[in-house]
Amino acid sequence: MSNACSYRQIALSLCLVFCFYLPCCVKSDELQILLNLKSALNKSSTNVLDSWEAASSVCSFDGITCNAEGSVKEIELSSQKLMGVLPLDSICQLQSLDKLSLGYNLLYGAITEDLSNCVKLQYLDLGNNLFTGSFPDISALGELQYLYLNGSEFSGTFPWKSLENMTNLALLSLGDNPFNRTPFPDQILKLKKLNWLYLANCSIEGKIPPEIGDLTELRELELQYNYLSGEIPVEIGKLHKLWQLEIYNNELTGKLPVGLRNLTNLEYFDASANHLEGVISEVRYLTNLVTLQLFENQFTGEVPTELGEFKKLVNLSLYTNMLTGPLPQKLGSWADFDFIDVSENFLTGPIPPDMCKKGTMKGLLMLQNRFTGEIPVTYASCTTLKRFRVSNNSLSGIVPAGIWGLPNLNIIDIAYNQFEGPITSDIKNAKEIGIISAEYNRLSGELPEEISEAISLVKIELNNNQILGKIPHEIGELKRLSSLKLHNNGLSGSIPESLGSCASISNINMANNSLSGKIPSSLGYLPTLNSLNLSRNELSGKIPESFSSLKLTLFDLSYNRLTGPIPESLSIEAYNGSLARNPGLCSSTIRSFKQCPTDSGMSKDVRLLIVCFALGAMILLASLGCFLYLRRTEKYRDRSLKEVSWDFKSFHVLTFTEDEILDSIKRENLIGKGGSGNVYKVMLSNGAELAVKHIWNTDSHGRRKSRSTTPILGKRAGKEKEFDAEVQTLSSIRHVNVVKLYCSITSEDSSLLVYEYLPNGSLWDRLHTSRKMELDWDTRYEIAVGAAKGLEYLHHGCERPVIHRDVKSSNILLDEFFKPRIANFGLAKIVQANGGKDSTRVIAGTHGYIAPEYGYTYKVNEKSDVYSFGVVLMELVSGKRPIEPEFGDNKDIVSWVCSKLKNKQSVLSIVEPRIPDAFKEDAVKVLRIAMLCTTTLPALRPTMRTVVHMLEEAEPCKLVSIIINKDGDLKKKEAK
Ligand SMILES: *[C@@H]1O[C@H](CO)[C@@H](O)[C@H](O)[C@H]1NC(C)=O
Ligand SMILES: *[C@@H]1O[C@H](CO)[C@@H](O)[C@H](O)[C@H]1NC(C)=O
Ligand SMILES: *[C@@H]1O[C@H](CO)[C@@H](O)[C@H](O)[C@H]1NC(C)=O
Repeated sequence: MSNACSYRQIALSLCLVFCFYLPCCVKSDELQILLNLKSALNKSSTNVLDSWEAASSVCSFDGITCNAEGSVKEIELSSQKLMGVLPLDSICQLQSLDKLSLGYNLLYGAITEDLSNCVKLQYLDLGNNLFTGSFPDISALGELQYLYLNGSEFSGTFPWKSLENMTNLALLSLGDNPFNRTPFPDQILKLKKLNWLYLANCSIEGKIPPEIGDLTELRELELQYNYLSGEIPVEIGKLHKLWQLEIYNNELTGKLPVGLRNLTNLEYFDASANHLEGVISEVRYLTNLVTLQLFENQFTGEVPTELGEFKKLVNLSLYTNMLTGPLPQKLGSWADFDFIDVSENFLTGPIPPDMCKKGTMKGLLMLQNRFTGEIPVTYASCTTLKRFRVSNNSLSGIVPAGIWGLPNLNIIDIAYNQFEGPITSDIKNAKEIGIISAEYNRLSGELPEEISEAISLVKIELNNNQILGKIPHEIGELKRLSSLKLHNNGLSGSIPESLGSCASISNINMANNSLSGKIPSSLGYLPTLNSLNLSRNELSGKIPESFSSLKLTLFDLSYNRLTGPIPESLSIEAYNGSLARNPGLCSSTIRSFKQCPTDSGMSKDVRLLIVCFALGAMILLASLGCFLYLRRTEKYRDRSLKEVSWDFKSFHVLTFTEDEILDSIKRENLIGKGGSGNVYKVMLSNGAELAVKHIWNTDSHGRRKSRSTTPILGKRAGKEKEFDAEVQTLSSIRHVNVVKLYCSITSEDSSLLVYEYLPNGSLWDRLHTSRKMELDWDTRYEIAVGAAKGLEYLHHGCERPVIHRDVKSSNILLDEFFKPRIANFGLAKIVQANGGKDSTRVIAGTHGYIAPEYGYTYKVNEKSDVYSFGVVLMELVSGKRPIEPEFGDNKDIVSWVCSKLKNKQSVLSIVEPRIPDAFKEDAVKVLRIAMLCTTTLPALRPTMRTVVHMLEEAEPCKLVSIIINKDGDLKKKEAK
């Protein structure tokens, strides 16, 4: 015994000898460790490790710093595109390592190693990688000063207890990880040296503890995007050094605490999107503020006049509160002021004139208030301005001419005021302008022909003004124009033939002017025209034959002076009202028009065609019914539905009324419950079936719906408009593999979306539930191709890409022939075609289908849908759900499939056993496409267009080569 003991002592002292007196031995070990690290990162697309050669000294390796004894002290390899599984065990054998910096790489895999050997570490950065699983205990790392683990996909419960004795910690960054919900961790409150605490978006709930005030070294405190509730503790006022305070997107209540005034060093303050109330006068002491964001709360009272004296302020976002009184008139006149959004308040008085004094302002958003006075002429030379939105106020006077020609302006929104004066020829300089929204004013004068030089125009909304003169024929040069609303003005002259070259136009409304002359036949050839209203003018001549081919949701030529025969396809009773009050029109089929001179004997075929048309378009008559007010009947079960008024918007020709829909929203008709709302089946009196989705307006409860906190990108003109715009876009989508949205019916607190009903339920039902059925391989393949085409259409077929955001088998519905249709666009947003790269930041999706990049960037684009679609393909092939207990903890179908790629036998075992052997090879082809779709790196995933292509071609050799060319790492990556 004692012998053994002393041997051990000898061994120990020998080791000491080796460690301290024979550094060269140590170094050869270190060489081995680093070469080992290099080979583990052999997937990296970087050459930073090229200098790591067995023949050189470790101290000469790029990214390595040694201490005086020649041992590795620092590894600095952040942002190097390193990809692979980190051999932490071996790295921790570097005895002198005090800095390990590997942030912003592509490291993956779970960290299961024991880090207790890394005792010397003072700096550990594993942030912004793609790890999986939970983070291990690190209580041995008592020397740590900097710890970055943010945005690295760590899940589960963080080992908060490890932080207990890390009293040297100055920086702690754990945010943007999908941790389990946790109260604010006490351990952090003991870290008195902390000056930077980043706990954003990591599921912290409950109150902000008052002891936070003891962390008096804090300069940055970021707690945004959590579930924090209760009041902001007064003790926060003790953080005198605080420079940045971010507590937005939580559930905080109460008032801004009085202590806040003591934070005189504060430059960045954001408490937006909470339930805060009371006055904001406390901020008047924060004279160093650069950015102040308090939007989407319930603040009342006035905007403190002191804000007008803040010398550094460049960004003020106070929208959607209940603020009153005027804005400080010197606001924004000091620093390089950038942006103001005070929309949706009750503010009064004039627009502060000097916010663009330094010539740097980009956004002026003041819509929906009670501002008065004129647009200060100073803004007419504010060339940096991108967004000018002052609609829904009581502004008046002449719009300064220069405003129309601001070269960077994207939107000018002055609607619903009392503005006067003409749209000037300055508009020719507005090369970036997409939207002119100026309806409901008193604008006068003529439309300048130079409007054709504003080539980015998508929407012109000038209805309900006093505009006179002709519509300039140059308007045909606006190739991107999609909506032209000129109704209720005093326009005269003829409709320019050139309008037919506005190939993107879908909506033309020129009703109630004094337009005369013939209707240009070119309008009949517009490929995307959906709504045409030329009623109440003095148009004459014949209805162009070309109109026969139009398929319109709204068509109105009534109250004109049209003559001659009504084109055959329009000769149906249903279009009767659209053509009424044109005494000169004749028809051989519609009785309410006079008979045309008979010589054109109609063939039977034509008659048949007319009958078909009549059926298909029963239509307009019925859609009139849609505008009826809600009939209050006893039938409603749902009280909340009964007592509200509904706004009905239809986008297709309809054969049902609002009442019919509302009557059917009752429990008996409930066919599904989803994340966003309940789904009802509605049987119409004519036997047709519809699906109605009832969505509660979660916004009215202030719950976070969107994670967008970049008001700089612009704020919508109220959620309703946004909703409408979205519904309108979605309803304009027509594709055999996309569910049709007929109309929306909205009230203050909920919305009904009326869709076509598909009898065979969802793919999820058919694969995984009690409604499961035998789907043979052909059917599965057809479903795969059809669904892919639907998604392809959403991504590439529309004017702007529509990202679905929640692709899953339960959102793929099946018609009576099991043809698939993509459904449920509740979460889809439109990505501007030109802004395509800065994908929108919205959290959405369903566990098991969510692409990995969600976890660390919250950025979604088409490629996130592609990932989800890949998961659906895997479901189709394997018959498994995306998450099954058999996959193991924290594993989903993607990692399960990857784990089966060892040999052919094992791959074939993925295919659902019920699929006959003869088809298994074909199923594996689809599986390969699924794997490409679920590649971790979005850039390596194919587009939906390519997916459709691959699915259609599905020639075995082609697919194999794609796999090998694109990505050899597909298989290895997930392998342990
Ligand atoms: C890359 O490294 C892994 C792990 O060390 C090893 O299994 C694999 O063979 C290496 N691949 C290449 C191409 O060197
Ligand atoms: C922190 O230190 C105390 C006292 O030395 C010790 O009891 C405790 O176990 C330590 N905590 C951790 C997590 O190591
Ligand atoms: C704010 O500062 C004042 C004066 O220095 C002090 O009396 C007060 O206690 C401070 N409040 C907080 C919450 O720190």
